[in-house]
Amino acid sequence: MLPKELIRFKELGKQITILTAWDSLSSAIVEAAGVDVVLVGDSLAMFVHGHSTTLPVTIEQMLHHTQAVERGFQSKKSHHPLVICDLPFLSYQCGEDKAVEAAGTLLKNSCAAAVKIEGAEPEVIAVIQRLIRMGIPVMGHLGLTPQSVHNIGYRRQAESKLEQEKLIQHAIELENIGCFSLVLEHVPGIFSSKLRNMLKIPVIGIGAGEDCDGQVRVTADLLGLTEKQPPFAKPLINTRKLSIEALKAWIQDKNNHLQNPTKATSQQESDY
Ligand code: KIV
Repeated sequence: MLPKELIRFKELGKQITILTAWDSLSSAIVEAAGVDVVLVGDSLAMFVHGHSTTLPVTIEQMLHHTQAVERGFQSKKSHHPLVICDLPFLSYQCGEDKAVEAAGTLLKNSCAAAVKIEGAEPEVIAVIQRLIRMGIPVMGHLGLTPQSVHNIGYRRQAESKLEQEKLIQHAIELENIGCFSLVLEHVPGIFSSKLRNMLKIPVIGIGAGEDCDGQVRVTADLLGLTEKQPPFAKPLINTRKLSIEALKAWIQDKNNHLQNPTKATSQQESDY
């Protein structure tokens, strides 16, 4: 699927589903679940590498993870979900040439067909225009932009009329210069609903209410892999708790076996 085909989804009223993946295990799972788009998000800096923000992840690491994601797909290449990769902090803030090199490296050496970029300041707009002219599709990202954490924190954005007007201007500009879609993070639902109706490109929400053209989630949040999730990303299952309980039972079973080697081990393992 070409990135710009997501605009057709919006025209047809089909909700777009996007999930993050960071390695072959997670990409196999989200592909099997039937997701439309896989995002190799720079949130992997926090979820996989254990950093406290997304800032430290490098373009080389993003490429490494995108290649692993590609190896996890089980279907034929023509049936893979669309893969979008985040351009990490400092790969596009230092000028157009550096950004073309970073984005080009991702598209040249992995299955990523597009990049996602945060913000719409004049310098970012110039970078996006250049990337699109060079044949690199771009997804925008407005609202809570985690790469600006030191400026805006993790609080909800677009609460005031002024902030909303600025965000609308930015979104229209991103659409006008050719972004094929826009992620809108942690803004009031009523605002996303309004913005969605103003744009032709799909608005993909996260913590932005249900009335969007699609939803994106960090898979680790939905699966409950971490101890705590953001308030707008409620887990569907508590995998962390279930895994710890199952592993504890296994360890207990082994310890019991050591103390009493004649006692049969768990049914499952003795069958193996
Ligand atoms: O990095 C990421 O996972 C993201 C999503 C939160 C949209 O950008």
